[in-house]
Amino acid sequence: TRTIDLAVIAGDGIGPEVIAEAVTVLEAATADEAQLAVTTYPFSAAHYLETGRILDDADLAALAAHDAILLGAVGGDPRDPRLAGGIIERGLLLKLRFAFDHYVNLRPTVLYPTVPSPLAAPGEVDFVVVREGTEGPYVGNGGSIRTGTPHEIANEVSVNTAYGIERVVRFAFAQAEKRRRKVTLVHKTNVLTHAGGLWSRIVQAEAANHPDVAWDYLHVDAATIFLVTDPARFDVIVTDNLFGDILTDLAGAISGGIGLAASGNINPDGTFPSMFEPVHGSAPDIAGQQKADPTAAILSTALLLDHLGLPDAARRVEAAVAADLAERGSTPRTTAEVGAAITTRLH
Ligand code: NAD
Ligand code: IPM
Ligand code: MN
Repeated sequence: TRTIDLAVIAGDGIGPEVIAEAVTVLEAATADEAQLAVTTYPFSAAHYLETGRILDDADLAALAAHDAILLGAVGGDPRDPRLAGGIIERGLLLKLRFAFDHYVNLRPTVLYPTVPSPLAAPGEVDFVVVREGTEGPYVGNGGSIRTGTPHEIANEVSVNTAYGIERVVRFAFAQAEKRRRKVTLVHKTNVLTHAGGLWSRIVQAEAANHPDVAWDYLHVDAATIFLVTDPARFDVIVTDNLFGDILTDLAGAISGGIGLAASGNINPDGTFPSMFEPVHGSAPDIAGQQKADPTAAILSTALLLDHLGLPDAARRVEAAVAADLAERGSTPRTTAEVGAAITTRLH
C-alpha cells in the first residue's frame, strides 16, 4: 500500500488539541488505502521561548522531504513582549508559505445543511476563496524611520508581481471550470490603482481564455456587504493576500463559525510540500480547555487528501463531518468528543 509521509506541526494554544483529532481522523479515513507515517515537529511559540529557535534552513530541508504538512496554529500570549511584532507568525508560518511557494491559499466556505448561520436567509453558501499566498503586504517590504518619535513614518509596501498574480488567477479560473463557472475578483482598484490595475488586467486576460466562465469585480468593502447579504452569489473569489485573510474569517463566521473553516496552502507545481491548516489561530482565550472545535482542522485533512490524490478518502472525511454536523445538538462537546464522533463514522 501507499505511504503518506506527513509532517505535523501542532503548534500553540488549541493547535495541539485540534491536531490530535485531525490525525486520528486522517488515520481512520486512509486505513484501507494508505499507511500514514507521521513525523511531529515542535515548531511553535512555546518551542521558541524554550530554545530560542523558530525555524531554520535545516528545519526547512527536513520539512521539504515530506509529502505534506499538517499545521494546527501558531502564536503565543499576545502580551508577551518576547513575541512582539509577529515574530512567530512571520518567522514560522509565513516563512513556510514563502519558502514552499504556497502561492494558492485555498479556503472553501460551505454552509452545511442544519448548521446555524448568523444570517437570517443565507441561501446556498458554497464558494471558495483563492487567496494569493506569497505576495502583497505580507512580504515584509517596509520599514520605519524616526521610530518612536512623533514624526515616525512607517511604510508597509504591498508587492504585486505580474508573475505572482498570473499564476494564482490561472488557478482560480481552473477552479471555476470545475465548479459553477463564476470568478469574482476582489480588490480596491478605486484607491490601490497600481496593484488593482495589474490584478484587473490579468483577470481580464485570463477570462478571455475561459469564455465559459463568467467573471465580475467587487471592491473589497462592497464584497463584505455581499458576503453577509447574498453569499450565494459567490463561486470563486480571487484576491490578494491581505484581503483574502480578512474575507476568510468573515466567510467562516457566516458558515457556522471559524471552528469549521479549513484551508490549504498549496504549491500547485508540486515542487514543495503543501501545508494544510484551519483558518483559525491558536485561540489563547480557550486553549487547554478542550473547548475548541476540531472540525476546521479535520476538514483541512480532506483538502490534504484531495491534494495527495486520495479523493475517495477526502469525500469520506467530508461525509463524516457532514453527518456529525447534521446531528449536532446544542449540548457542548469537548474537542476530543467531536473528534471521536467523526472518527467513529469512518470505521
Ligand atoms: P483566533 O482564530 O485564534 O481566535 C479568534 C476567536 O475565535 C477566539 O475567540 C477563539 O476562541 C475563536 N476560535 C478560534 N478557533 C476556534 C475553534 N477551533 N473552535 C472554537 N472557537 C475558536 O484568532 P486571534 O485571537 O486573532 O489570534 C490568536 C493567535 O493565533 C495570534 O497569535 C495570531 O497571530 C495567531 N494566528 C495563527 C494562525 C495560524 O497559525 N494559522 C491563524 C490565525 C491567527
Ligand atoms: C491566517 C492567519 C495568518 C495570516 C497570520 C497568523 C500570519 O491570520 O492564516 O489567516 O494572516 O495569513
Ligand atoms: Mn487570518
